[in-house]
Amino acid sequence: MPNRSEARGIVLIGAQWGDEGKGKVVDLLAGRCDAVVRFQGGHNAGHTLIHEGRTVVLHLLPSGILSPGVECLIGNGVALYLPQLFEELRSAPASHRQRLFVSPGCPLILPSHIALDQAREKHAGRRRIGTTGRGIGPAYEDRAARRAVRAGELFAPEAFRERLRLAMDLHNFMLKQYYGAETEDPERVADEWLGMAEELRPMMDDIAARLRRLRNEGKSVLFEGAQGVMLDIDHGTYPYVTSSSTVAAGALAGSGARLEHVAEVIGVVKAYTTRVGEGPFPTELKDAAGERLAREGAERGATTGRPRRCGWFDAVAVRHAAQRASINSLCITKLDVLDGLDSLRICVGYRLDGRGIDTLPSSMSRYGDCQPRYEECEGWRESTRGATRWEDLPPPARAYIKRLEELTELKACIISTGPARGQTIIRRHPFAR
Ligand code: GDP
Ligand code: IMO
Ligand code: MG
Repeated sequence: MPNRSEARGIVLIGAQWGDEGKGKVVDLLAGRCDAVVRFQGGHNAGHTLIHEGRTVVLHLLPSGILSPGVECLIGNGVALYLPQLFEELRSAPASHRQRLFVSPGCPLILPSHIALDQAREKHAGRRRIGTTGRGIGPAYEDRAARRAVRAGELFAPEAFRERLRLAMDLHNFMLKQYYGAETEDPERVADEWLGMAEELRPMMDDIAARLRRLRNEGKSVLFEGAQGVMLDIDHGTYPYVTSSSTVAAGALAGSGARLEHVAEVIGVVKAYTTRVGEGPFPTELKDAAGERLAREGAERGATTGRPRRCGWFDAVAVRHAAQRASINSLCITKLDVLDGLDSLRICVGYRLDGRGIDTLPSSMSRYGDCQPRYEECEGWRESTRGATRWEDLPPPARAYIKRLEELTELKACIISTGPARGQTIIRRHPFAR
C-alpha cells in the first residue's frame, strides 16, 4: 500500500514582489523530490538557475527540468505562450520532453494579447503598470471572460479556428479602434498555432490526475510559484500587480491538486527588497545605498532586463504576505549581498497620516502614502558568500536573520548565500523524512 504520510507536497512562493530567488531554491530542492509543478503566471516569470557553472533562465519550464528523473508539470493556471515553451525546450536536451507534462486547460497567450498588453501600457503613459509586455493581463482577462482558447482545443482544428477568430476579432477591434495600433491576422495565427499542435500533443496530460497518482505513490511534489504575494491579483499592491493568484491557494486552483496534498508553504524572501515595474514600494532607496544593493545583487530583471528598484527588508509587507498566502516557513536569499555594510535597516512599521501602523492600510490606494519606520541593525565586514553552515555566519548576520524571523513570526529553513545550488545553508530540509 502506498504510504500517504510520506507524500509531501510543498508550495514555494515569492513573499515579496518577485525575483526572490525561487528558481535557485526550486532547483536545489528538486534533487530531493519527484515532481515540480508550475501553477500560475506565464513567461513573465524569469527564474535563474546555475547549472554546471552556466546561468540558465527559465520562463515557462518548471525549475526541476535540470534535475534528471524529476517530472515537470505545467498546470491549468499557467498562461501558455507556445513559441516560448518550444524555444526553451529547444535549448535543452531532447530527453527533457519526456518529463514534461502540460495541462490541456492552460489558456493560450496569443500574439494579439501581447500587442494589447504593449498598446495599453503605451496608452497609459505615466499611469502604466510597468508590465513585462508578455500579454499576461489580456490572456487572463480572456480566461475570466470565458473567451480564452485553451491548449487542449488545438486538437480540434475547426473549432479552434473559430474560437480563436472570435477572440482575435475583439482584440483587433480594441487594438485598431481604441489604441490605434497594428492588428494581428487571425488566420495566420491559427495556422501557426495549429502547426505547433503535434509537437505539443505528447506532452498533454491530465495534471490533476497525475498529481493524484504521485500522491498515492508516496512521491514528493514541489509547487513552484512565479512572481510574489505582493503582486497577487487580490492581495498585492493593486492595481500594480500581475493578473494571477500568487498565493498558496493558487497552487491548488492552478493544478487541481487536493488541499490536503500541501504539507507546507515556504515563502522565499530576499534579505532586502526589490521590485520591477511601477507601484508603491515604501522601503525603496533612491540613493547610493539603493545603488549599492542593485550593484552587489546584480539586480536586473531576468525577463525584461530592466533595473530592479531596491530597498531595505520590509517586515510589514512580508507579514502581510505570510498571512494572506498561508506561508509557514521562510527561505531567505541573497544574504551575501549585505556583506560589508556598517549597518542595515529593517522596516518594522509604517507612518500614515502622522500615525504609526504595523499593517498595510485597509485600502491599498493609501499604500503609496505609507512611510517606513526603521529599526537599525549592526552590519558585518566578513564575507558570507558561499557559507553552508549557520555557525560560520558572522554573529551580526545571525542576529539579523533572527530579527527577521522574530518580526515575521516565521522560521527560516533555508538561507541562501550565493546563486549556485551549493551556496546554501539548510537548517531544515523541507523534504527530509
Ligand atoms: P526568481 O524569479 O525568484 O527565480 O529570481 P530571479 O532568478 O529572477 O532573481 C534572483 C537572482 O539572484 C538571480 O540572478 C539568481 O542567480 C540570484 N541569486 C539567487 N540566490 C542568490 C544568493 O543567495 N546570493 C546571490 N548573490 N545571488 C542569488
Ligand atoms: P518572477 O517569477 C518580478 C511584475 C511586472 C509588473 C507587474 C505586472 O521572476 O518572480 P505582468 O507582465 O505580469 O502583467 O506585469 O508584475 N512582474 C514581475 N516582477 N518578477 C516576476 O516574475 C514578475 N512577473 C511580473 O514587472 O510590475
Ligand atoms: Mg525572476
